[in-house]
Amino acid sequence: MTQPQALPNHVGIIMDGNGRWATARGLSRNRGHQKGAEVFGQIVRHAQKRGIPYLTVYAFSTENWNRPPEEVGGIMNLLRSYLRDADKYRKENVAVSVIGDKSRLDVDLVEMIAKLEEGSRHNTGIHLNIGLSYGGRDELVHAARQIAAMAQAGSISPQEVDHSLVERCLYTAGQPDVDLIIRTGGEQRVSNFLLWQGAYAEFYFTPTLWPDFTPADFDAALEEYSRRERRMGGILP
Ligand code: FPP
Repeated sequence: MTQPQALPNHVGIIMDGNGRWATARGLSRNRGHQKGAEVFGQIVRHAQKRGIPYLTVYAFSTENWNRPPEEVGGIMNLLRSYLRDADKYRKENVAVSVIGDKSRLDVDLVEMIAKLEEGSRHNTGIHLNIGLSYGGRDELVHAARQIAAMAQAGSISPQEVDHSLVERCLYTAGQPDVDLIIRTGGEQRVSNFLLWQGAYAEFYFTPTLWPDFTPADFDAALEEYSRRERRMGGILP
């Protein structure tokens, strides 16, 4: 008899391998990101169908600013076209947040993001966080600055700094910790993704390049997660 599967509350995805996928086909790296963006849309829809409440994807890291300007511009344009279609989120009932250092983004993108976050926040389906100019260390520095300012203003004492206060100062304030982090593209490292929120995350690494990642691959990660949970809970004999 099949056991009911424990679904993660929050899944994180490091979408790696777009460049290699494109190079292997003699295409530009930006074509790889384009295909990656299509796959991203399919996976969000699929995760929603599976009943995952929170999904965080790593679209662009603080370190990715060091890539050639045409590649950075290409990824930003993909994000622009993805974020522009606000109607889509209403229809699909997706609540969107963009997490990261928005001060480095172009003004039009920042405005588009603010509109989208505001317009979609009452949607009751999956909550999608898009990591854009995101770095876990940056996020912790950002939180530390807010806490230092509160202490300086005299509104808290050092003894009042605890886990819950730090959590409230993160980009993901009010959201559950990430339970499962999927990384495609064969590398097995965390690369500055959700450092605080992933303290107890299970990792699922796959050599599949992100543009080749399918809903069935996502299901395989959920299946593996449910097995690990059951072992940890001592349910299996
Ligand atoms: C990593 O592959 C991927 C990125 C740095 C960009 C991810 C972007 C997308 C999937 C498209 C835009 C996203 C949205 C949300 C519309 P890589 O370039 O490091 O690949 P490589 O390791 O093969 O070089």
